[in-house]
Amino acid sequence: MPDSEIYTNPRAKTWEYSVKSDRGLAQAFHRRLPGYKQTPLIPLPGVAEELGVHGVFVKDESSRLGLPAFKILGASWGTFRAVAEKSGLSLDSSLEEVAAAAGRSDTVLFAATEGNHGRAVARMGKILHVPVQIFMSRFANRETCEKIESEGAQVTVLTGTYDDALAKALEESRKNPNGLLIQDNAFDGYEQIPTWIVEGYSTLLAELDQQLEQQHLKATTVVTPIGVGSLGHAVVAYCKSDARHIHVLTAEPETAACLHHNLKAGKRFTIETSATIMNGLNCGTVDPISWPVFVAGVDASITVSDLECHQAVQYLQNHGIDAGPCGAASLAALRKAAAIDPRAANLDKDAVVILLSTEASRNYPSPAPATLL
Ligand SMILES: Cc1ncc(COP(=O)(O)O)c(C=O)c1O
Repeated sequence: MPDSEIYTNPRAKTWEYSVKSDRGLAQAFHRRLPGYKQTPLIPLPGVAEELGVHGVFVKDESSRLGLPAFKILGASWGTFRAVAEKSGLSLDSSLEEVAAAAGRSDTVLFAATEGNHGRAVARMGKILHVPVQIFMSRFANRETCEKIESEGAQVTVLTGTYDDALAKALEESRKNPNGLLIQDNAFDGYEQIPTWIVEGYSTLLAELDQQLEQQHLKATTVVTPIGVGSLGHAVVAYCKSDARHIHVLTAEPETAACLHHNLKAGKRFTIETSATIMNGLNCGTVDPISWPVFVAGVDASITVSDLECHQAVQYLQNHGIDAGPCGAASLAALRKAAAIDPRAANLDKDAVVILLSTEASRNYPSPAPATLL
């Protein structure tokens, strides 16, 4: 379903998100995890010059708590909080206390994934010493399965899509009396854990806030990739709260642009998706708890082709940033929006643009002969 038209919502400019959760709890938890440190904010002066803006920076999530994507921020907090609350433990309990409680209740973790979320849940299972079962769509590749298995999880690859993998993970988690589904998207009757996962992602944005403040800068646009939308939900919550009024541009693959199509139609529905190098963004259904936040708070949405994304991967890698396709989608989207309509990305000479680069480089089938930019 190729479609590169830009969607814009002028009303999002002044919309205010009302903060419902205490994001400080998640940040305090992440600081207690072994190996926690802020991920870097890297300037891209060449892109800033090309676009005629004050600055362009990449929040580089290529190494987050020892994993090659940001997803562990949500999976770790969602799992920790679910086990702690189920066991009646307070949220400042130690990892050891929560692991002991999970062991006593024979907890088994279940999740569906395109890769990174599953690996993050598998890592959390390893930290808490509990078994993990992961379900994947037909788009899963062997290398990704092996990485998840290397965390000690059992991986099942289905013949269907991500949505089929999700249905299976739910079914299996319900069959097991101690099963706990750790999913990063909500559905009817399953909203609490995805809400905590969104809360977990807020740590990335709290870091960004501090890093910009240290440089006496204020972001004017944040570009975020969208799969089911949980990360985007956290981004909109940050950009549209505390009177920040930061412009949000969302990036999706042409072949899996569920949010883009839903926003244009003004209603939420599932779309058919097909293969893309941006595996983590290959989702057909927007997270229902994130949808109202997107309708109100996304300023612009654009789709990018695999080739545009591949060129952005090459640019970032040639400039020392270890970005994979999902992460480079942000740069591809910014360049494309700038070329079609700079106002859609809120670009002017004073603009400070943040690109969320959500994963490290990885192998993928090159959509075109390599062109060094
Ligand atoms: C690397 C990467 N970037 C971005 C996303 C999109 O996140 P979300 O599904 O919360 O929209 C994903 C999702 O799996 C991902 O793996």
